Amino acid sequence: MAGGGRVLIVAGSDSGGGAGIQADIKTVTMLGGYAMTAITAVTVQNTLGVSAVHPVPPKIVAGQISVCLSDIGADIVKTGMLVDKDTIEAAAEALESFDVPEVVDPVMVAKGGHALLADDAAAALIEHFAAGAAILTPNLPEAEVLTGRKIRTESDMNAAVPALRALGAKAVLLKGGHLEGPQVVDLLITKGEVMRFADPRIETTATHGTGCTLASAIAAGMAFGLGPEQAVRRARLFVRRAMENAIPLGQGHGPLNHGAR
Ligand SMILES: Nc1ncnc2c1ncn2[C@@H]1O[C@H](COP(=O)(O)OP(=O)(O)OP(=O)(O)O)[C@@H](O)[C@H]1O
Ligand SMILES: [Mg+2]
Repeated sequence: MAGGGRVLIVAGSDSGGGAGIQADIKTVTMLGGYAMTAITAVTVQNTLGVSAVHPVPPKIVAGQISVCLSDIGADIVKTGMLVDKDTIEAAAEALESFDVPEVVDPVMVAKGGHALLADDAAAALIEHFAAGAAILTPNLPEAEVLTGRKIRTESDMNAAVPALRALGAKAVLLKGGHLEGPQVVDLLITKGEVMRFADPRIETTATHGTGCTLASAIAAGMAFGLGPEQAVRRARLFVRRAMENAIPLGQGHGPLNHGAR
């Protein structure tokens, strides 16, 4: 059953419900897909930040992946927080034989600054997830780690294109949410093209989970057979609508409204 909307999410839990697995499930469900999960860690988190991370043993992460894929199957795998090298290797091994296309959000640092990936894990992430990804979705700080380049302006973003292509993913969506200015600019980089997506910046404190939501919305689209360009276009609209309709919650970076129609 290809194109059946089945999404296996490999990511961490956000107790506050705005990012991570919770954002992923809400997004995939709203877009008509079927969400399964392999939880990599339980975070103690609210809109103000992450105060603790409790990793799930790598064997249990691999087990969740294997039982879902061998029984239910998936049209797309979406990865988020992968915690550390051991978890990355265990997840990669469990995924290997099933050969499902992957949307890889290379989550490294939470919005409040808490590290969500161990320091020695970036190389493993590049080897096991970035290189084979159907689409890789770094924000600017992550793209800096992945390429070893400084990316602080839109022209830096364009200059990083060859280094991002060299990571080996079929497509890279370089997210410009961290730049300042009246527009938010994302670049979709494929082998032959660079597509620029620009929209007015939304002035809001509801920015918790934008990255998770975007990657899951892309995953949901691709799980129903959309190509990367269409999936990205729709996912960006989904994120904007969820930001514009956010209900003020919490005292920090508030969540999006995934239920906005
Ligand atoms: N203020 C904003 N207004 C409109 N769109 C935004 C805004 N901030 C981010 N976006 C969009 O949201 C998406 C996620 O980008 P962002 O750079 O915030 O990812 P991220 O840093 O990975 O997020 P997270 O911290 O949730 O992991 C991108 O498509 C980006 O253009
Ligand atoms: Mg992110």
